Amino acid sequence: MSDHGMIQTGDLVTGCPLLVKSSKMNNVCHIITTGDGSHTIYVPGINDHYHSVYGAVQESEYIFIRNGFDICMADPVTIFEVGFGTGLNALLTATRSTQATRRVLYTSIEKYPLDKEIILSLNHHLYAGRDGEKIRKLIHQAEMDTMTKISNYFSIRKLSGDIITDELNSKFDLIYFDAFGPDKQPEMWSLSIFEKISGITKPGGILVTYSAKGEVKRNLRRVGFDVSVVPGPPGKRHMMRAIKI
Ligand SMILES: C[S@@+](CC[C@H](N)C(=O)[O-])C[C@H]1O[C@@H](n2cnc3c(N)ncnc32)[C@H](O)[C@@H]1O
Repeated sequence: MSDHGMIQTGDLVTGCPLLVKSSKMNNVCHIITTGDGSHTIYVPGINDHYHSVYGAVQESEYIFIRNGFDICMADPVTIFEVGFGTGLNALLTATRSTQATRRVLYTSIEKYPLDKEIILSLNHHLYAGRDGEKIRKLIHQAEMDTMTKISNYFSIRKLSGDIITDELNSKFDLIYFDAFGPDKQPEMWSLSIFEKISGITKPGGILVTYSAKGEVKRNLRRVGFDVSVVPGPPGKRHMMRAIKI
């Protein structure tokens, strides 16, 4: 089992997987249609998905928007994401920021950027309102390592880097912790990573992640977070929300 849900492609997914060439991390990946009709990517090399097979948009919306963005009261809100991936969390946050008329400064780190043609073949923009396609394009065209204005409410800085080795020095109100599962990439969920994350989270800042694993919970507590296990999205019993003390 993956922390993103079940891992067998073909079982709970609709639509035929399309084989595409992928990034440096693995040679190939499959684009699959998840339970809510939105796409995700399956990476055979680590046997994991970028999102839940029960619904990629549904999961992202539930964990990061409803349990993160909507709960964090900072205005403007500074967000740090671990794992830019397909940019789905960024796109949904951009959409929500306009609806909520709340300014967002979004920073996201990615070590293995996906090829542009893979990202552009995903249907995520269909779930991001009237301007979804335009916003997605602007997010993906934005220059790396530079805070770029995408809309009146949303700006993004995409960092090309490695959360394990890179030094981070800003402070953030909200952390989207969206690494591959702890069973697939345990080094991303280690105490030292959470020490680093704790160091960039403002007091009272919120961290959300889909994992509710005991060891992750203990690591977060050790580095100064008050951790709550809350109901997860469809297909996942729990997720975690942690507040920096
Ligand atoms: C579950 S996916 C993220 C999904 C993404 N948030 C989205 O909305 O599509 C995990 C991401 O973490 C990235 N990653 C893996 N190791 C990393 C590292 N050491 N530093 C930064 N990113 C890493 C992967 O390449 C992948 O894009």
